[in-house]
Amino acid sequence: MISINDIDKPFIDKLFEKTDDIIKRGGSKGKCRLNIHSDKILVNAFFEPSTRTQLSFESAMKSLGGSVINFNAYTSSLKKGESFKDTIKTLSIYGDIIVLRHPQTGSAKEANEYSDVPVINGGDGSNEHPTQALLDLYTIYKSFDNNLNTVNTILFVGDCNNSRTIRSLIKLLHLYPHISIYFLPYSGCNPSEDMLHSISHKQNIQTNILDKNQPIPYHLFDVIYCTRLQKERIYTMKQQDRSRTDIVITKEILNKCKNNVIIMHPLPRIDEISTEIDNEPNSVYFKQMEYGVKIRMALLDLLLSR
Ligand code: CP
Repeated sequence: MISINDIDKPFIDKLFEKTDDIIKRGGSKGKCRLNIHSDKILVNAFFEPSTRTQLSFESAMKSLGGSVINFNAYTSSLKKGESFKDTIKTLSIYGDIIVLRHPQTGSAKEANEYSDVPVINGGDGSNEHPTQALLDLYTIYKSFDNNLNTVNTILFVGDCNNSRTIRSLIKLLHLYPHISIYFLPYSGCNPSEDMLHSISHKQNIQTNILDKNQPIPYHLFDVIYCTRLQKERIYTMKQQDRSRTDIVITKEILNKCKNNVIIMHPLPRIDEISTEIDNEPNSVYFKQMEYGVKIRMALLDLLLSR
């Protein structure tokens, strides 16, 4: 699972069905223990910081009865000069599946070429984060009564240039072309040409870039998806535009939205969403984390059962 390009609608249907079943057994918050992969080892290979992706994959694998090795890039033989290729080759001998996070775009694809076992992209630079997109789409699906046909509009707020979660979710939305895509970028964070091109060359998908200095039609949106400024990648931004989160979702803004709008965020949140709306039923960013474990359980089961 390197890119959303690798998956199609039948795969998503199967994944969602399996995730529904896991939740039915254990509840979305609860633990669902399935002792079905006790002979398998997952290797978490994180070359960049993470809380959710790393720990949710660990939780998911252990919930399937499997074991987990956490590779530490900072105390490994990389520090002695070992190559990325030899490192991945080594990890693929120790485990049955690898989850890789790396700051370099294309690193997951490269690792997949060196590995003898499947590689899951846990985020490669500003390129993609496919399992985040799957759990995001699942959260939208559950929030709208298991029916994506009732979702017509999504607004992406924030760092629309460097966010790999936006990039992967947009690729996934190509499979649901009735959903119109809007952007509300921070200063200097407009969606890149290649992102816009990837949308515009798909038929019937509408995209709109809103200006934060003009009135924003918040009442139009079914989903508002916020992202933090990717400070670790700001070398692509103009100096005067750096370090500015200049749109914050507050209670006042929520009051301008549809009653059933959902507010999403892949997290970590810095200051993009006011904590005053954390307990509103519209705020589903903690729900995304709960679903993240279950989606990853279902995905690991599908990949390890092949
Ligand atoms: N959403 C996400 O990828 O979070 P982490 O960086 O904590 O893994």
